[in-house]
Amino acid sequence: MDQEDRSPLKHFVVAKKKINDVFEQLLGYVQEGSEFVKETCQNTSLEHIADSTQLQEIESYTEKLAVIKEVLARRHMKVAFFGRTSNGKSTVINAMLRDRVLPSGIGHTTNCFLSVEGTDEDKAYLKTEGSEEEKSIKTVNQLAHALHMDESLDAGCLVKVFWPKTKCALLRDDLVLVDSPGTDVTTQLDSWIDKFCLDADVFVLVANSESTLMNTEKHFFHKVNERLSKPNIFILNNRWDASASEPEYMDDVRKQHTDRCVNFLVEELKVVDREEAPNHIFFVSAKEVLNSRMQRAQGMPETGGALAEGFQDRLKEFQSFERTFEECISQSAVKTKFEQHTIRAKQITESVKDIMDQIHIAAAEKRVASLEEREYLMDRLEFVRNQLNILIKDIKKKIKVITEQVENKVSNAMAEEICRLSVLIDEFHSDFHPSPHILKLYKSELLNHVEKGMGKNLAFRCSDAVNASVQSSQKDMIECLQPLLPSTVQSQIHMLIPNRKFDLSYDLNCAILCADFQENIEFQFSLGWAALVSRFLGPANAKRALMLIDQNLKLSQPVATTPSSGPVVQAPPPGAPASQGQSQAVMTQEELMMSMATNLASLTSRTSMSVVIVGGVVWRTIGWRVIALSMSLYGVLYLYERLTWTTKAKERALKKQFVDYATEKLQLIVSFTSSNCSHQVQQEIASTFARLCQQVDVTQRDLESEIKRLTTKIQELETVQGRSKALRHKATHLESLLEDFTRQYLYPHH
Ligand code: GTP
Ligand code: MG
Repeated sequence: MDQEDRSPLKHFVVAKKKINDVFEQLLGYVQEGSEFVKETCQNTSLEHIADSTQLQEIESYTEKLAVIKEVLARRHMKVAFFGRTSNGKSTVINAMLRDRVLPSGIGHTTNCFLSVEGTDEDKAYLKTEGSEEEKSIKTVNQLAHALHMDESLDAGCLVKVFWPKTKCALLRDDLVLVDSPGTDVTTQLDSWIDKFCLDADVFVLVANSESTLMNTEKHFFHKVNERLSKPNIFILNNRWDASASEPEYMDDVRKQHTDRCVNFLVEELKVVDREEAPNHIFFVSAKEVLNSRMQRAQGMPETGGALAEGFQDRLKEFQSFERTFEECISQSAVKTKFEQHTIRAKQITESVKDIMDQIHIAAAEKRVASLEEREYLMDRLEFVRNQLNILIKDIKKKIKVITEQVENKVSNAMAEEICRLSVLIDEFHSDFHPSPHILKLYKSELLNHVEKGMGKNLAFRCSDAVNASVQSSQKDMIECLQPLLPSTVQSQIHMLIPNRKFDLSYDLNCAILCADFQENIEFQFSLGWAALVSRFLGPANAKRALMLIDQNLKLSQPVATTPSSGPVVQAPPPGAPASQGQSQAVMTQEELMMSMATNLASLTSRTSMSVVIVGGVVWRTIGWRVIALSMSLYGVLYLYERLTWTTKAKERALKKQFVDYATEKLQLIVSFTSSNCSHQVQQEIASTFARLCQQVDVTQRDLESEIKRLTTKIQELETVQGRSKALRHKATHLESLLEDFTRQYLYPHH
C-alpha cells in the first residue's frame, strides 16, 4: 500500500483536485460577480454604472467556467497500447492491472478498441459504443465471448470496460488504459488516430522481441507523430522470456533491438533525444509478470515462471517501465490537461477583475458627482429658505406702506367728495311729489344716485393710482421671488398670477347709512316761532325749547289745544289742521313772548336775552303805528313765503336737508371706508404673495426630495464601490491561486 501511495500518478490526482478546487472557487466567484453586475445593471437609479455588455461578458464566463469545470472533473490520464496482433498488448495491460481483465490468447484476440477505467461500484461491467446499458461481466471469458458474439462491433469500435477501483490502484489514480486490435489488421489508421489517440497522454508500442519492428507498427506511429507534437512513446520489447532460451545471443539481440528502437524514436520520429531514448525502451515479459502477480495475489507460492532464468531481472525491468511510465504520464497529463484551462482561467479572472475595476471607477465618479450635486442643492435650499425669510419681512413692510398710502388716498378723496356732495345731489333729477309714496321712491333713488355717483367719483380719483401701485407691487414680488420658483413655473409665471385688473370697491352702503333720514318739507315761516328759536338756539336746543313751550301751553290753555294738533315740530300732519295749529301759535306768540323770557333765561345766551329786552324797550318807546307797520310787513312776508313754498322749493329743501344729513353720516364712515379699501388692497397683494410662496414651497419640497434621492443614491454607490472592491480582491486572490498552481504543477522546474 505504501508503494501505491507514493505512485507518481498521485501527482496528477493531486493537481486535478487542486485545479478543480480553484475552478470551483472561480466559478462561485464569477457567479457572485455576475449576480452583482446584474443587480447593478438593473438598478436604474445608479444610471448604468454597469452596462449590459459587461453583464453578458461575465455571464458568458460563468457558462464557460461551468463547462470547463465539468471537463476537468472528468479528466484522466490515458495510455494507449498499440502493436501487431499477438505481441501481448492485452497481456501487458493485464499485468499492469494485476488481473486478467482483458482477454488474451493465440491468434487475433482483441477485435475492437477496449478501454479500462475505474468504477466506484464493486462489480465490473461494460458499455458498448452508442449505448448507455451497463452489461455486467463476471469473468474474462464472458467478456471475450460477449465481444465476439457482438457482430455490430468492428475494429473501429470502442467498448468501455469498468473495473472496480477497489481491485486496482492504477484505476484509482484516474488512469485509463486503451487496448487496440493489432495494427496489422486495419487500413483505417487515420480514423483510429482521430478517435482514440488525440487525447492520449502516452503511447506504448508493444513489440515482439522475437522478431524485429514491423513496418505496419512504424507506419502507425509515424501517422500519430504527424498529428500530435512530440507524443510520449514507450517501446516494450515483450516476450523477452524467450531470449532466456538462447542466453549467448541475448546481449547482442538486446543491443540490436535497442539500436533499432532508438533509431526509430530519435531519427525517424524525433520525439526524444538520443540520451533520453533508452529510458523509453524496455525488455519485458508481460506473461511472466502477470502470472507471478496473480499467484502472489492469491497467496500461492511462486512457481514456474518465477523460477525461470532471468525472471527477477525482467520483473524489475517491468517495474522500472511502470515507474517511468507513471512519472511520464502524470507530468505530461497535468500539463496537457490543465495548462490551457489554467491560462483560460487566468484570462477570465483578469477580465472579471477589469469589469470590477470599471464598475468601481464608474461608481466612484458617479458618487463624487452626486456628492457635488447634493452639495449644490443643499446650498440652494439654504439660499431659498433664507431668501424667503428675508422677502417675507420685506414684503410685509411693503404691503404696510402701500395699504397706508391707499388708506390716505381714499380718505382724502372721500373728504373732497363729501365737500362736493351738494353738487352731486344737485345733479339728481327725478319726479318729486310730497306724497309719502312717491317721496319714498324719490329718496331711494336719491340714495342710489349718491351711492353710484360717489363710487364713480372715488374710483375716478383713486382706482388708477391704486391699481398701478397694486400691480407694481405684484410685479416687484414676482421679480423678487422668481429665482426661487420651480423652473417649470418660472416660464409660465403669468399663468400663476392672472393679469386681471384689480377693482377696488368702495361700498358706501348709503341705503343703510341714511336709512333714518327724515326730511322736513312742511312750510316753515322764516320768522316763525320755531324758526326763530332754532335760529337762536340751534336746531337741537330749539327742539327742546319748543317741547317745553308745548307742555306749558297744554297746562295753561287746555281748551285752546285741539285734539288733532300734535307736537309742533315732530311730524305735523300736512294740510289744513296743520296750518290751523300754526295760526293758533301765531296768535299767542306775543303773550307767550314775555312769559317765555323768564323760562328761557337759563337756556338762551346773553345776546338773545338782550334782543328780548330791546324788543320790550322798542315796544314801549316806538308806539303802536310802527308796530302795526311791522305787523303788516310781517304778514306780507309770511304770505310771500307761503306762496313760494312750491313743490320745487320742497324738493330743494329736501335736497338741502339731505346734503347736511348725508355729509354728517358720510364723514362718520370715512375712516371705515378707507380702511376697508386698504384692506382689499392688502388682501389682493397678500393673496398674490401667498400663491407665490406656495410655489416656493414646491421648490423647497422638490429640492428636499432631490437631496433625499441623492443621499440614497450615494449610499447605494458606496455599497457598489465596496462590493466591487471586495470582488476585485477576490479576483486577485484567485489569480494568486492560479499562479501557485502554474508554478507548482505546470512549470515545476522554473
Ligand atoms: P491481439 O489481441 O490478437 O492483437 O493480441 P495481443 O497483442 O493482445 O496478444 P495477447 O495478449 O492476446 O497475447 C497473445 C499470446 O501471447 C497469448 O497466448 C499470451 O499468453 C502470449 N504472450 C503474451 N505475452 C507473452 C510473453 O511475454 N511471453 C510469452 N511467452 N508469451 C506471451
Ligand atoms: Mg489483445
